[in-house]
Amino acid sequence: MCGIVGYLGPLDPKEVIITGLKKLEYRGYDSAGVAILHDGKTKQIRALGKLKSLEDKLSSEKFNGRLGIGHTRWATHGAPSERNAHPHQVGDISLVHNGIIENFEEIREELLKQGAKINSDTDSELVAHLICIENKKTKNLLTAVQNILPRLVGAFSIVVFSEDQPEEIVAFKDGPPLVVGILPDQLFVASDVQALLPYTQNFVYLDDREIVHIQKNKFTVFGPKGKAVNKEIVELNWSPELTEKQGYAHYMLKEIYEQPRAVAQALEPHLDVSQFCVKLKKLGFGTTSTQQLESLNSAEDWKKTQEVFKQTERVFIIACGTSYYAAMIGKYLLESLAKIPVEIDIASEFRYRSPVIPKNTLVLTISQSGETADTLAALRLAKSNGATALSLCNVRNSSIDREAHGHLYMNCGPEIGVASTKAFISTLALLNALSVAWGRIKGALTEAQEQEHVKALLAVPSQLEVVLSYDKYFAQAADRLKEFKGFLYMGRGLQYPIAMEGALKLKELAYMHAEGYAAGEMKHGPLALIDDRMAIVMLAPSDQWYEKTISNLEEARARGGHVISIGTGDNEKLKRVSLYYLSLPKSHWTTSMLLSVVPLQLMAYHLADNLGYDVDQPRNLAKSVTVE
Ligand code: AGP
Repeated sequence: MCGIVGYLGPLDPKEVIITGLKKLEYRGYDSAGVAILHDGKTKQIRALGKLKSLEDKLSSEKFNGRLGIGHTRWATHGAPSERNAHPHQVGDISLVHNGIIENFEEIREELLKQGAKINSDTDSELVAHLICIENKKTKNLLTAVQNILPRLVGAFSIVVFSEDQPEEIVAFKDGPPLVVGILPDQLFVASDVQALLPYTQNFVYLDDREIVHIQKNKFTVFGPKGKAVNKEIVELNWSPELTEKQGYAHYMLKEIYEQPRAVAQALEPHLDVSQFCVKLKKLGFGTTSTQQLESLNSAEDWKKTQEVFKQTERVFIIACGTSYYAAMIGKYLLESLAKIPVEIDIASEFRYRSPVIPKNTLVLTISQSGETADTLAALRLAKSNGATALSLCNVRNSSIDREAHGHLYMNCGPEIGVASTKAFISTLALLNALSVAWGRIKGALTEAQEQEHVKALLAVPSQLEVVLSYDKYFAQAADRLKEFKGFLYMGRGLQYPIAMEGALKLKELAYMHAEGYAAGEMKHGPLALIDDRMAIVMLAPSDQWYEKTISNLEEARARGGHVISIGTGDNEKLKRVSLYYLSLPKSHWTTSMLLSVVPLQLMAYHLADNLGYDVDQPRNLAKSVTVE
């Protein structure tokens, strides 16, 4: 996912743009650039690699101007290179782009026939050519952009300015997010609010197919039909400090340590600790915009939520990656506690499998970013089939959040590390609370059972503090662990999705071969993988699946596998048979997975760090996949 920053105002555009792009570095990118007006002329400076390379080039540059745009590129069309970096400049036009222009070949052919000089392999540059040609006719950048948009097919967002209209920026959003940052005498546009938090807390979120026309000290938003539309200005309370590392070596480690607080913050709005019950707060079913959530009457909203849950006969939980493993947990919990049938789907599969969505279906999307293209498309498909949509995400007013009927928030603050940790664990806590509430509403749980679950949830933050002590343990074990040729993560029941998540963490951080498996599946194939160079990570807390898991463990050991086991308390048997044994505090069967995932996060983190890899921005990955 690319990073975009645009600015019009009295500050130094170079300063504003570089500061903003640095806040977006976590997304993962391969090149960066700026285009800034200097004494009325465009200066375009781009660099391959990290922002540092661009800053080195800019260090001797001074800009006498008020307008500029900048970009960090995650290559989709055209290899990472300076010539393919954004901004692209064609004549008076400078443009940055996020997303994909699907019909770029035909546009390229047509431009070449017209004699256009195309300098890059990107789809983005072609858009700059089209706007440049149109702008020469219209002498009006806004009209030029409006006129060429119908030519373009795909999900993309662009920000563009023209040298001959030096007090204007035009931006268009369809798919990848764009927000307008607002101050009385200056305006910003960016792909994420975090880029602008050092300057403003007031934002307007563009919806799909909206255009914003930024001029000196004013902006106008035009809807898909070309008419000006009123947009509410949202004030955020995310301070810039929240997105700093606060002394940790990496954002990911900081976010692992934030998990106790993240669980507490996720649950806080929904738990009534005086009665140990769950009262889901301000989900907002039936409101028309997320802006209204804050002003909702909690009692009335809770009544509406209960109505929706009562009439729901089937749930689909849809997500990608780590969020899909949370969906697997959601299925276990909702079916066990609320006795409601649940289907789970990987979003990129769901949207193309012609799903049958019966009436009274609720679709729950899980997405930290709220911008994952496949998950957004799946939500739209489910809604078009009459489903009620409930979004569980971490970014208020994100694309998915804005299109859902109901809203749950991870509430864990910005998650910067590409590998998700605190957002995942916050999601598990919320799925727990959601299942308990739903179970009570459907009469599947007694009041006493509800209180038992709530007390278990309230204990999790302090239990997590205990588990975090494994940080130093894995720092020491990394040298030995990196010798293994591969890792087989196994678990049963609620530990099976955690095994999948643990394997993903090792893959995406340490680039090592790892597989997650249902422990009962070992004899159906993976057993053949095991020899003395394989590590078996066995999740065996004292729960209803413990005995069976232990027999799977024996099968693995008998074939020479080295075991890393995670159990409850002082488990002599596991200690005896394991190369490494990590004990978890005693916990409820529905919360033990919030604890068992943490050693797996720390193991992946320390292996990656030990191997010298970029923990916060693993190769080839982006924090949010806003394209298919
Ligand atoms: C998580 O560690 C991965 N970076 C990735 O699998 C991620 O969970 C997935 O891309 C979904 O993202 P989302 O939660 O923002 O939709």
